[in-house]
Amino acid sequence: MKTITVSLARVPGERSYPIHIGEGVLSRPGLMLEYLPQKRVVIVSNTTVAPLYLEKLGSALESHGVAPVPIILPDGEEYKNWQTLNLIFDALLTHRCERSTPIIALGGGVVGDLAGFAAATYLRGVPFIQVPTTLLAQVDSSVGGKTGINHPLGKNMIGAFYQPRVVLADTEALDTLPERQLRAGIAEIIKYGLIRDPIFLEWIESNMPALLARDAGILMQAIQRSCMNKAEVVEADERESGVRALLNLGHTFGHAIENGMGYGVWLHGEAVAAGTVLAAELSRRMGMITQADVERIVNLYRQAGLPVAAPNLGTAKYLRLMGLDKKVEGGKLRFVLLECIGGAVVRSDVPADILAETLMECTAYA
Ligand code: NAD
Ligand code: GLY
Repeated sequence: MKTITVSLARVPGERSYPIHIGEGVLSRPGLMLEYLPQKRVVIVSNTTVAPLYLEKLGSALESHGVAPVPIILPDGEEYKNWQTLNLIFDALLTHRCERSTPIIALGGGVVGDLAGFAAATYLRGVPFIQVPTTLLAQVDSSVGGKTGINHPLGKNMIGAFYQPRVVLADTEALDTLPERQLRAGIAEIIKYGLIRDPIFLEWIESNMPALLARDAGILMQAIQRSCMNKAEVVEADERESGVRALLNLGHTFGHAIENGMGYGVWLHGEAVAAGTVLAAELSRRMGMITQADVERIVNLYRQAGLPVAAPNLGTAKYLRLMGLDKKVEGGKLRFVLLECIGGAVVRSDVPADILAETLMECTAYA
């Protein structure tokens, strides 16, 4: 097992938390006991993950005298909404959960974002623990404290920053993850290489076959390096007033794809991959990176089996959907663009004609 700390403290220890990564950590509740103020916990999961892992986590907790209260949600991005959030509140109130009753998220990013938002707002905040079971959640969404839900008009538009007390990323859980979901997780791993860690990017290029083959050692290294990158960014800018925005490379386009196609049709990681190709094309047209750089990025996503062609929603629809991006400031779109492979920057000066040309020329090819 490896442990990475997210250091958020002005006062040492305060709000900082560990990410424990390794085989079987889900069955080691000893790693979370110190964060459980009472002998009852709520476990939020979904109809796919609960049959696989709820019993394992629940009985491990029971063996330490902790009683689990399960809340099982429908599975899918299309359920990351107000109605599903309310199901959590209904259950928390029915079970008379208190301010000291912790909520554990057991599942992928959808369960984590929903359960985290519930934890942030129920009784104005209860202790929260992340047990991510997808690659995407282990390398990204379980770390950093972004929680929330989608709105029909815009992705992740309602939410709260609310940090977990501890993250347990069990690499064994990835054994049951469908192939398409594994690939979607790789998209967020590639992101760290592109925005700030070129050596990691080279490592990913060399180790893609092993990642896809779920080589345990290689997956472990990829998760660790991703979490280290994410922790450093979140430590520098917890509430995204600066450098954290770079973690949204490809997301302005990607969120438009997810919403425009209907939540759940494109996986988040798939939309991020195709969105990053658009961001790279835009960066090239802005004179920031070369055609060879764009090709290197496209080749890497192809190697990962991720889509490199964004769907042709039409320029007007893209512009309308991107107008609801969280980075919009003073009505102006802001894009994370690449200055080089391994270096990103936020730009608000993209000329409308270059953006329109990129959307027209780069959304139709297959
Ligand atoms: P997901 O939560 O929908 O999980 C993908 C699928 O895998 C689901 O069907 C799920 O039930 C299933 N699953 C989960 N674990 C499994 C396992 N071990 N074995 C078999 N099946 C399993 O999707 P995701 O990719 O984990 O997360 C995407 C979501 O995360 C999006 O809503 C995105 O906006 C959000 N996100 C949030 C952040 C953040 O910082 N909060 C960062 C990135 C993404
Ligand atoms: N996934 C983007 C962030 O956590 O900031």
